[in-house]
Amino acid sequence: MNILILGSGGREHALAWAVMQNPKCDKLIVAPGNAGIAGIATCADLDILDGAAVVEFCENNVIDFVIVGPEAPLAAGVADRLRDGGFLVFGPSEGAARLEASKAFTKEICDAANAPTAGYARFTEAGPAKDYIRAEGAPIVVKADGLAAGKGVIVAMTEEEAVEAIDDMFGGEFGSAGAEVVIEEFMEGEEASFFVLCDGETVLPIGTAQDHKRVGDGDTGPNTGGMGAYSPAPVMTDAVTQKALDEIVKPTMAEMAKRGTPYQGVLYVGLMIKDGQPRLVEYNVRFGDPECQVLMMRLGAQAMDLMHAAAEGRLAETKVNWSEDHALTIVLAAEGYPGTYRKGTEIRGLDTLPETSQQMCFHAGTAMKDGKLVSNGGRVLNVTARGATLAEAAERAYAMAGAIDWPEGFFRSDIGWRALSR
Ligand code: AMP
Ligand code: GLY
Repeated sequence: MNILILGSGGREHALAWAVMQNPKCDKLIVAPGNAGIAGIATCADLDILDGAAVVEFCENNVIDFVIVGPEAPLAAGVADRLRDGGFLVFGPSEGAARLEASKAFTKEICDAANAPTAGYARFTEAGPAKDYIRAEGAPIVVKADGLAAGKGVIVAMTEEEAVEAIDDMFGGEFGSAGAEVVIEEFMEGEEASFFVLCDGETVLPIGTAQDHKRVGDGDTGPNTGGMGAYSPAPVMTDAVTQKALDEIVKPTMAEMAKRGTPYQGVLYVGLMIKDGQPRLVEYNVRFGDPECQVLMMRLGAQAMDLMHAAAEGRLAETKVNWSEDHALTIVLAAEGYPGTYRKGTEIRGLDTLPETSQQMCFHAGTAMKDGKLVSNGGRVLNVTARGATLAEAAERAYAMAGAIDWPEGFFRSDIGWRALSR
């Protein structure tokens, strides 16, 4: 099979790594890719938001199967253009991608599916939104309706903070994503992510994970795209997982099918768990980054068969081969991230790292410059390892992180603390 992966982050490096291990893969192209991906696959310069260009690329390169990594091309309908062009795609249609692209839409689906989630109200004007905040009190959560690169959610601890968020959103800080605002009840509990594949009808769980959103040790400092993750998430017991499937995921998938927008691809289910009861925080229509890295480390080559089965509508006859292992990934970021940071600083020592089915250094934001590996983003590397226990996976990953010579980078020293201290 000739396979095309769309995207350029650590998530896509991990997907490429898993796909390359599968003997059914004859040729792999990643567009646009990065310096790490270029070491295992062909990278191609392509505007992945331009559906017509992606279709033409697939025709020219005789592509059999397309895996879409990030949400932006999905929300832009690239999977639809590819299907119209006769290509097999892993990833939801534009209509189904609204589960991530519109928070108000997701709330509407939860209502229709009777799925447990935070109470909420929707607003298109600042005045009534502020009245609602004053009536409800803090803590309270203010969300821009549309895609805002992970920055459109304000968990406000005071009414003033919430009111300020309303002014920012209606003031245009998030562009059209903030034209509508969802205000939610603040949910307490422990967060976890649950990943399932869907083929429009059947739902197949493929793993759980927890990430670390704050930049600093002890979960302090500003929010980031994620500083590390591990799988499985101990809070996702069999009972909690079953409840999440029965009360949230399956009713959502049934509602999507009923509306004529069946969901096909991976669904990232963000949950808040309290007293054994999961409630939905959000859906994403893609793998998490860096959660994908730990899932791929645990699934290995079968990941490609699973995605292929989802795209072909064969999940009812598909099983996951589980191994009772744990995986953990640590994000190495550029000093200053998530604020301003430098690009182009040299990274040394990667050639000393072992790369096996047990440990890999996935590249998130790297480039080659004058024959040297340099940073090319905020989150730059994801050292990822697995082990029989989470402690073993953490030890392997931290040994890798420590062996990388990059003075302009940093990483958290406590990834996995919550699970390790259980
Ligand atoms: P989202 O992009 O919707 O996942 O929101 C980002 C983060 O904000 C989540 O991972 C949670 O940590 C937090 N969050 C979102 N909604 C709520 C809520 N209703 N209650 C508490 N925390 C929330
Ligand atoms: N790591 C969080 C996300 O991918 O949205």
